[in-house]
Amino acid sequence: MAEPLITLKQVDVEFKEKTRSVHAVDHVDLTVERGDIYGIVGYSGAGKSTLVRTINLLQRPTSGTVSVLGQDMLKLDAAKLRQERRRIGMIFQHFNLMNSRTIADNVAFPLKGTKVTETTADGKKIWRKIKKSEINQKVSDLLELVGLADRATAYPNELSGGQKQRVGIARALASDPEILISDEATSALDPKTTSSILDLLAHLNQKLGLTIVLITHEMEAVKQICNKVAVMDEGRIIERGTLLQIFAQPHEQLTKDFIDTTIQIESAIAAVRKQPAVRDLQAPDQLVRLTYVGASTDQPLVATLFKTYNVTANILFGDIQILQGTPFGNLLVVLSGTQADLDRAFDYLQQSDVTVQHLSANQEGEQA
Ligand SMILES: Nc1ncnc2c1ncn2[C@@H]1O[C@H](COP(=O)(O)OP(=O)(O)O)[C@@H](O)[C@H]1O
Ligand SMILES: [Mg+2]
Repeated sequence: MAEPLITLKQVDVEFKEKTRSVHAVDHVDLTVERGDIYGIVGYSGAGKSTLVRTINLLQRPTSGTVSVLGQDMLKLDAAKLRQERRRIGMIFQHFNLMNSRTIADNVAFPLKGTKVTETTADGKKIWRKIKKSEINQKVSDLLELVGLADRATAYPNELSGGQKQRVGIARALASDPEILISDEATSALDPKTTSSILDLLAHLNQKLGLTIVLITHEMEAVKQICNKVAVMDEGRIIERGTLLQIFAQPHEQLTKDFIDTTIQIESAIAAVRKQPAVRDLQAPDQLVRLTYVGASTDQPLVATLFKTYNVTANILFGDIQILQGTPFGNLLVVLSGTQADLDRAFDYLQQSDVTVQHLSANQEGEQA
């Protein structure tokens, strides 16, 4: 059963400044369930960081309720809040490591002075301060987990960006959190390193059952590991769903734009328009983009168009990726046939859950 770990209800954050006020988060409802890797995507300034900072109350909402791991966060006293925050790890774009301390010391830092439970010989449970040897063991386990076992005595400046973020992740996991909030954690990294950090997060999600909230302005990151996604704009969540729902049926233009960044469709369309098959296009033939998720891929679309509808499909560009184990396809094709056959073919495509977008044969045509 899906268990809600984070429930935000009508969370609102207004920053009041002397001359103006900024409505950073506008009455947001959000539920994150155990085991989710929940992506929140949006442009800079959309309110993503402010929103996730309300989860551990680094940012107190102006109004609304915040429930995390069964606790009403706004009702906790300072001590209890500190305790709850340890169950919510956080990683950042700029790593926030202490440069004068070794990697091991950075990871050990949140463990210093913490308490652990112990069962005594007569079966009583007692709290005691964590021992130095236990910290050392824990740090070495964490560094092993993030693939940095051999860098314990190095200093942050000796590490690459990807390695620094691995340290950030190890440090965030030191208090055995159930939730990890990643705020643009890969935004300072090159694509290959980004991908390896995302793989690590997905691995931790599986191995530790860690629930992850992933803030990013890159849909590519969401696509790689998230099972759910919310799109944020001007303080509001404008669209949300499972990854497949969002990719299969985006409703908002902003969502479509974010998805398109992951397939470089704009440059593909520009290239296709230069091809003779498109340049010399005669009506009623037309250039279309076909988008489909899952089952429709298995259908021999092109063959059916020809056999049943007498429409030929000349594929000029194709991109098929696997999302959560399900194919997500984008084709740019020229469809040829009589107008009546084309109309019937479009009905068939729609019934097969294939999204058809009509494109003009040239850029000028689109602007007209
Ligand atoms: N402490 C603050 N004081 C005033 N305005 C803020 C503060 N923090 C964020 N903002 C404003 O709130 C809006 C959302 O910011 P932020 O949550 O950082 O967006 P994002 O993380 O999506 O880039 C922006 O207009 C930003 O300038
Ligand atoms: Mg931000």
